[in-house]
Amino acid sequence: MINSKTQLMGLIGHPVEHSISANMHNAIYKALNLNYAYLNFDVKTDDLKKAIDGAKTLNVLGYNVTIPHKINVMKYLDEIDFMAKMIGAVNTIHFKEYQNDKTKTLCTKAIGYNTDGIGAVEAITEEINLKNKKVVVLGAGGASRAIAFQIAISGINELVILNRTDEKAKILSNECENKLTQLNKSNQSNKSNQSNKSNQLHTQNNSKIKEKIDFNENMIFKYGNLLNIEEELKNADVLINTTSVGLYPNINDKPLAIADMMHSDLVVNDIVYNPIDTGLLKEAKIAGAKTIPGTKMLIYQGAVSFNIWTGHDAPIDVMEKAVYKSRSQLKH
Ligand code: ATR
Repeated sequence: MINSKTQLMGLIGHPVEHSISANMHNAIYKALNLNYAYLNFDVKTDDLKKAIDGAKTLNVLGYNVTIPHKINVMKYLDEIDFMAKMIGAVNTIHFKEYQNDKTKTLCTKAIGYNTDGIGAVEAITEEINLKNKKVVVLGAGGASRAIAFQIAISGINELVILNRTDEKAKILSNECENKLTQLNKSNQSNKSNQSNKSNQLHTQNNSKIKEKIDFNENMIFKYGNLLNIEEELKNADVLINTTSVGLYPNINDKPLAIADMMHSDLVVNDIVYNPIDTGLLKEAKIAGAKTIPGTKMLIYQGAVSFNIWTGHDAPIDVMEKAVYKSRSQLKH
């Protein structure tokens, strides 16, 4: 029930009316009896700074950020989590109160995170332990960036990025390799330096995000175009589609991989969740592979955002029910 103590969260983007995040988050608050409310805010790019400043003034607790603001919003934030910095995009903002040492007054700072990649990785690790696995990612756009960086620090031993425009796959793969190798080096020097109280790259907040770093020093980074799919899938453990192929209304698009290219030990995740049963997932089922629908990533990225804002663990089953209910209410 909304009352004088209710705290506000929301989604900023343009447009936002098709988002089902509000249904998912409000379902959590109801199930856990928490005094929060989540609303959609349609914010134009020119008003982005006002949306951040306004949230601080009005004591909003958190925002999710969606298209087209995930990159632009970063310049208005006070701090950015190191993974979001590395990915180059923010999808979650926590407005956190702190005591200003000089004025002894309570102030609010806006801290940016990216929970898209961790959402996908959490969804996949429900099905498979990623330690020493080979992962093939299709696509090299914004969603791929978040997933590639996060999965590369999840203990895997090979990451192959394949894209229609192979130059973009090359740029992303090289960036991943360079940045993560650098991160690994600075982590190791921090660890060996006893005067450092703890690893500075991990100390910024109370969220789950910081606990999830397992980088394999001998990891293989590869890239190529979509003609390489069949060859790369032969010994792959996980396939993730981050492209928009198969997304409504193009539900009859030919999937980028077909059953003949897959094997029954493969785990296949399509981040497209409209429709839930995409062409790619249908092919995976024919091959006897395990499938993970895009709704899982949506749910887990929301669960991590909720954890950042509140410190509570999210009830995944409640979120799942809310997502399926809202999906069935949509016309398509
Ligand atoms: P998002 O933020 O959702 O990742 P994006 O940054 O526009 O969106 O990236 C879209 C991705 O889907 C790209 O990898 C794109 O390939 P290109 O880089 O070659 O454009 C891929 N994609 C979109 N339509 C595609 C299609 N019909 N076939 C293959 N790949 C496609």
